[in-house]
Amino acid sequence: MKFLLIGSGGREHALAWALAASPIVSKLYCAPGNAGIADVAECAPIPVNDLDGLVAFAKAKGIDFVVIGPEAPLVAGLWDRLEAAGIKALGPSARGAMLEGSKGFLKELCREHAIPTAGFARFQERDAALAYAAGHRHPLVIKADGLAQGKGVIVAETGAESSAAISELWSNYGPGLVIEEFLDGEEASLFVLTDGEHIIPLAGAEDHKRAFDGDRGPNTGGMGAVSPSSLLAPQVIEKALSRIVKPTIAAMAARGTPYMGVLYAGLMIRDGEPSLVEYNCRFGDPECQVLMMRLKSDLATALLAARDGEIAHLDLRWEDDVALTVVMAARGYPGNYSKGSEIRGVEDAAKIKGVQIFHAATEKRDGKLCAAGGRVLNVAALGSNVEEARSRAYEAVHRIDWPEGFCRSDIGTRALARKAR
Ligand code: AMP
Ligand code: GLY
Repeated sequence: MKFLLIGSGGREHALAWALAASPIVSKLYCAPGNAGIADVAECAPIPVNDLDGLVAFAKAKGIDFVVIGPEAPLVAGLWDRLEAAGIKALGPSARGAMLEGSKGFLKELCREHAIPTAGFARFQERDAALAYAAGHRHPLVIKADGLAQGKGVIVAETGAESSAAISELWSNYGPGLVIEEFLDGEEASLFVLTDGEHIIPLAGAEDHKRAFDGDRGPNTGGMGAVSPSSLLAPQVIEKALSRIVKPTIAAMAARGTPYMGVLYAGLMIRDGEPSLVEYNCRFGDPECQVLMMRLKSDLATALLAARDGEIAHLDLRWEDDVALTVVMAARGYPGNYSKGSEIRGVEDAAKIKGVQIFHAATEKRDGKLCAAGGRVLNVAALGSNVEEARSRAYEAVHRIDWPEGFCRSDIGTRALARKAR
């Protein structure tokens, strides 16, 4: 079968790597892809927001199945457009993607179905939001209602901070805010695959969202990840599925907008009790990289089964080993950074046992590998435990010669500290 993958990040390189290894994939295209993806797929320079261009390309190439990596084209309705053109794709539909595309929609759904999540209020008027925040105990969590590339959430410790956050989010991302109570606990992500009715859990992971060591500095798209997460013991997963994920999938089906595809549940866990922080309508980045390192079954078959409503009897197998990935980013990320610097040593680093390097934003210029974005490389490794995966990943990082880049040196520390407790 001919597959088309949409996206250009580390998540998509990991997906391309897994899809390219599938016995059912005879040809893999990627739009737009990057220099690493070009090693396993034929890349076409179509941006992810060019829905017309993507549908036309899929038709012209006779694509059998499309896998959409990022949220923006899902929320914009790429799945709906492809299916209307007779091309099968992994969803969700635009209406399903509202679980990520509108925080207010999600919170109201949770309230209606008693899904455990932080208490909240939803605002369409800025003054009402300001008055509410002024009258409530802090910390409060202020969230833009719509998509904001991971920058739409501010934890406000004081009244002054919440007023500033409300003004900032309103002017940057337009009207519509959710204000939530602050949840204490430890965060982990649980991924499931669903055909709209049945659910199969994939695996769990822990992201490292802050830019610098010790969980300091600004929030980023994610600077590293570990899978599995010891926060997600089997009984915690069972609670998350029965109290959070299954009621959500049932509610979406009952509304006539079934959710099909990968669902990423961001959970806050306290004393073994999970609450929902957010949903994403896709694999996480960089969580996908560690999931793909551990997946032993065929990814293409699983995704196709979700589209065809046939996952009830699917059985996915996972490595027991731990996978850990370190993100290498351009200095300045998530703020301003420059592009175009040369990266050396990637092939040498990839020779280390258990290591896979996924490109997140790279391009070839005159045969040289160059940085082409903020998060640039993912150095991932498998090991029999967190220590081994981490030492392999950092050994590989040290072989990469890229003075213009940086990474956190403490990915996995939280997992190790928990083990020591
Ligand atoms: P979100 O985009 O909704 O996942 O929010 C981004 C990050 O903000 C989460 O990963 C949490 O670290 C934090 N966060 C969001 N909502 C809450 C909450 N109600 N309580 C505590 N932290 C939160
Ligand atoms: N790593 C967080 C995300 O993919 O949303």
